[in-house]
Parts: sequence; C-alpha cells; structure tokens
Amino acid sequence: MIILRSRAEIEKIRASCAVVAEILERLVEHIKPGVTTLDLNAISEELAVKKGAKPAFKGYHGYPYALCASVNEEVVHGMPSRHRRLKGGDIISLDFGVVMDGYFGDAALTVPVGQISESAVKLCTVTEECLYEGISKAVAGNRVSDISHAIQDYVEARGYSVVREFVGHGIGQHLHESPQVPNYGPPGRGVRLKPGMVLAIEPMINVGEPDVVVLEDQWTAVTRDRKLSAHFEHTIAVTDNGPRILTPRKNRFTKLYG
Ligand code: MF3
Ligand code: CO
Repeated sequence: MIILRSRAEIEKIRASCAVVAEILERLVEHIKPGVTTLDLNAISEELAVKKGAKPAFKGYHGYPYALCASVNEEVVHGMPSRHRRLKGGDIISLDFGVVMDGYFGDAALTVPVGQISESAVKLCTVTEECLYEGISKAVAGNRVSDISHAIQDYVEARGYSVVREFVGHGIGQHLHESPQVPNYGPPGRGVRLKPGMVLAIEPMINVGEPDVVVLEDQWTAVTRDRKLSAHFEHTIAVTDNGPRILTPRKNRFTKLYG
C-alpha cells in the first residue's frame, strides 16, 4: 500500500531530511586521508543525538551502525570499521538516515578523498546527474518506472552500468515503504505517481559490470569485478508543483570537485 502524505506529514519528513542533509554536509568536512569509517560513524551518531534525532539504520534488520560508508568498489551498506582508513584517491559513499517524531529521512552522496582520478570524477558526476534525471520524472501522472527508465538511459548512454540488486523506496513512517523504485527498466510501468507520495531515489552506478556480491559480514555489497561504484540518494516528495527534494544539498559534485 502506498500512503499519500498530508502537508503536516511531509513537513515532519522534511524535518528529518533536513537533519540528514546537514549531518551529511558535516561528515564531508571530516573526509580526509587517515580518517577511519568507524570515526565517521561515531561523528554521525553524535551529531544525530545532538539534533534529537535517532539514527534510522542502527538496528534495522540487525545492522549495527548509524552510517553506511562504502569505499571504492563497495556499492552500498559498507560497514564502518576501525580498520578501514581512508587514503588519497579513494571515493566514499556516505549513506545516512534518521527518524524524528515518527518520520524518516534518508540520503546519500559520494565524495572524493584528496585528489581522485579523472575516471572517478566522471563516475561520481554521472551518478549524481542520473539521480537528478530520475527526480525530474517524479511528477504526478507519471509512473514509478519513468524514474527508473530515465536513470538507466542516462547512465548506459555514458557507458556505465546500473546495479539491480538494490533499489529506491517509499519512505515515511518506515525507512522502507512501498513502492520499490528500481534504477532500471522500461518506462510506463508500476504505480501512477500522485501528490503526497514520498520516495527515496538512490541510483548505484558501476564503472564495470553491474553485478554485485555481498561480503562475509552479510552487509557490505561490492562490485563483483571490484571496479569503482558510486551512490547518490535524495528523499523527494511528489507535489502539485513537481518533485520537491527534501534532502537538499548546497552544491553538486561537479561544482565542488569536477
Ligand atoms: N539508504 C539505504 C537504504 O535505503 C540504507 C539502508 S542501510 C540499513 O536501503 F542498514 F538500514 F539497511
Ligand atoms: Co534509502
């Protein structure tokens, strides 16, 4: 069942989303060689608590951390570790969510550690741009897979591949609600979008093959060919005036690092 959210509910989701967006911006300031992904997890948790927000991922299906920190070939659900120390040339996806007053927010971005390769810059740029392509189709009257198709089209035209195993999702009173929002597929399928629907759109894009495998920790997903992967996510609301991004960021990747 897909719940249409009232203005008051969207305001609550937006409040959680604002906390998520701010914490992600703060985490980015800490990204430098030598920092461990467990340090970043601690910072994210501390900041959430300060804001009176509860980290949404911790305890979700037994996930033990507040943050997902996925480095290089890690696609999503990278488990923070005191052994994973960032080094110059890495890219890291930071995926974070909170719940406040019963409503969830969820967002992710990928950032460079120091100087990164030209090909890593291109991957991150295409991944962020395809997210905005998808969001542009989150318009009342369209169908869910119009978002999916726009993302796939944009990505494959540029020679990259779309991860199939993980998808975007409805969000509201749970982290994951209906509908699923795949990042691939034919247009014109799935439910019709209506004002009040709130979706987390989150393409995961690979330089090489689309295939992923999950490591022995049962969480960390990596590319099977171990080539680079990037991930960007926004929570958005479908409104009478088009898509509204509830987790806005000040700058795009290209503006900052391109
Ligand atoms: N943004 C991811 C998602 O929506 C993060 C979930 S991590 C989990 O699936 F640990 F909570 F599962
Ligand atoms: Co999500």
